[in-house]
Amino acid sequence: MARLFEGRHHAEIYAKYRPTYPIDVAAKVIDYAGKPSSTGLMVDIGCGNGQSTEIFAPYFDKIVAIDASASQIEEAKSSSSEGCANIEYLVASAEAIPVSDKSVDVICSGQAIHWVDWDNFWTECRRILKPNGSVVLFGYHMPHVVPEGITSTQQLEHLRSEARKCTIHLRSICQLHERLRHLDNRYIDLFELIPTQHKQRDDSLKIERRWTMQTFQKYLTTWSGYQRILAENKVQDGKKDVLREYLDNLKTIFHCQDKSDDSINLLVTWDIFMLFAKHPQSVSP
Ligand SMILES: C[S@@+](CC[C@H](N)C(=O)[O-])C[C@H]1O[C@@H](n2cnc3c(N)ncnc32)[C@H](O)[C@@H]1O
Repeated sequence: MARLFEGRHHAEIYAKYRPTYPIDVAAKVIDYAGKPSSTGLMVDIGCGNGQSTEIFAPYFDKIVAIDASASQIEEAKSSSSEGCANIEYLVASAEAIPVSDKSVDVICSGQAIHWVDWDNFWTECRRILKPNGSVVLFGYHMPHVVPEGITSTQQLEHLRSEARKCTIHLRSICQLHERLRHLDNRYIDLFELIPTQHKQRDDSLKIERRWTMQTFQKYLTTWSGYQRILAENKVQDGKKDVLREYLDNLKTIFHCQDKSDDSINLLVTWDIFMLFAKHPQSVSP
């Protein structure tokens, strides 16, 4: 199993600065899976601090949210919102899910399934899903960032594409884990590997945040690749922090070099991709 997100500090900044999902994500899941019965059970795999869990709380009688990282689960329990008393957070792995056979209506996983052992996960899906149960795997791609308030579409597209090049460069410097290639290709490869023909995908939703450059910088520190090079003390690429260099490049592109990070307003968006599948039991891989 890939051992990331284990540190207390990483769990804390993850809770503070990673975006949550729009409630439309939960609505799409319920549309696909059907409204669960009054005893509906959902399992969230790799729940982190509960970012991917809480939007489902109104729809299910009970949610078991698991994560392999004890720090993430501790953070999830301590930051749990009102109205989410039906969520039970447990330290457990996707390859040994602590619920009984044929008990689960929906298995979801947000931004996490690329970390797990794929075959063992699906063995567990076959075991725990009710016969008509569903699996929904979703994630988001690296951010698009533009200054707020640009009205010209042409200018916006130009800035977006120039900033994109810098973001791709930052990712390459951060030596991100090879499993993140699944996110880079929007789970297109994983979709093919889902062991049933009864599957579909949806790429219509987005996460949107209006952030200052200062807040955007905090979000970037939650990247596992940045945390890894920080831990290995390699964050100084030559002489400048790689995030500082990236943000300064954005300032040049956005023509706001003389402004401080906290006075620059950005529109940050992430494309969400969602894979939906029915219980794989009846159809051979
Ligand atoms: C990027 S975070 C996603 C958190 C949250 N679901 C979200 O949407 O923001 C990935 C999480 O998957 C967890 N994880 C990685 N491998 C796992 C495994 N085999 N079983 C359970 N959780 C795992 C990590 O500990 C981490 O908290």
